[in-house]
Amino acid sequence: MKPVPERTTSTVRRKPAAEVRAWIYDRTIAGLTRGWYRRVLQHLPAGARMLDVGIGTGGAIARNAELIRSKDLCILGIDIDADYLYRCTKVLSLARLTDHVTPRLESVYEHNGGPYDAVYFSASFMVLPDPVGALNHIKSLLAPEGRVFFTQTFHHTRTPVMEKIKPVLFRVTTMHFGRVTYERDFRQVLREGGLHLDQLATMGRTLNASYRLAVAHPRRAKDRSASEPFTRATVAPVNLQHRGLSQS
Ligand SMILES: C[S@@+](CC[C@H](N)C(=O)[O-])C[C@H]1O[C@@H](n2cnc3c(N)ncnc32)[C@H](O)[C@@H]1O
Repeated sequence: MKPVPERTTSTVRRKPAAEVRAWIYDRTIAGLTRGWYRRVLQHLPAGARMLDVGIGTGGAIARNAELIRSKDLCILGIDIDADYLYRCTKVLSLARLTDHVTPRLESVYEHNGGPYDAVYFSASFMVLPDPVGALNHIKSLLAPEGRVFFTQTFHHTRTPVMEKIKPVLFRVTTMHFGRVTYERDFRQVLREGGLHLDQLATMGRTLNASYRLAVAHPRRAKDRSASEPFTRATVAPVNLQHRGLSQS
């Protein structure tokens, strides 16, 4: 499947404020998420088709250009923010990624492409208004052995201050930091969305939080039932090499 270039972002020059907004975003978030993308992209088989939900300014993906080209990956990056996508189009072009990554102004809830070997949420899952609805939707876009990847921050203990600060930060900076996510809630959302969690790996830590990679697939009959609580043992790494998708 080659990227479909329809409904790409407008090339009409944007207001300076919009460009500054996208630039600030790129400088602050993409430095961190670059490594997260690398972690996921490294484990995709050559020629894989991936849907990047919330590609943002493309800064993180562009910093992995060499890896994307060497694996001949085919990525469709969707986002609802026209300012970010305007910058993304330029960033992808500068990184010589236009043959591999196509940005498109579209919400995950409206997207109907595929089938995809991977659907990836990098710091975008916790900004969605209806995460369960998003999972139910993207499940239908996956190839039979397709996987869903998430990279994001998890908070370890309840942090009411952070829960209050995040929406304020959004109003001040216009950058979406999403809801504070706890592991228990995340697992619950995956269960409700019909996904089976294969792996939850820690990539880095701060004092009260960790950056994690989660890998999941649509629940099948042989997976544990939805009502059965997850335990550490149920998320022990599983070898997915035989499916062409590895997990860690
Ligand atoms: C924190 S940013 C992450 C950007 C990029 N994935 C990264 O990791 O550097 C979250 C992105 O999700 C986008 N987003 C929010 N709601 C969305 C939706 N319904 N469909 C697609 N993208 C969405 C936002 O506009 C934003 O660009």
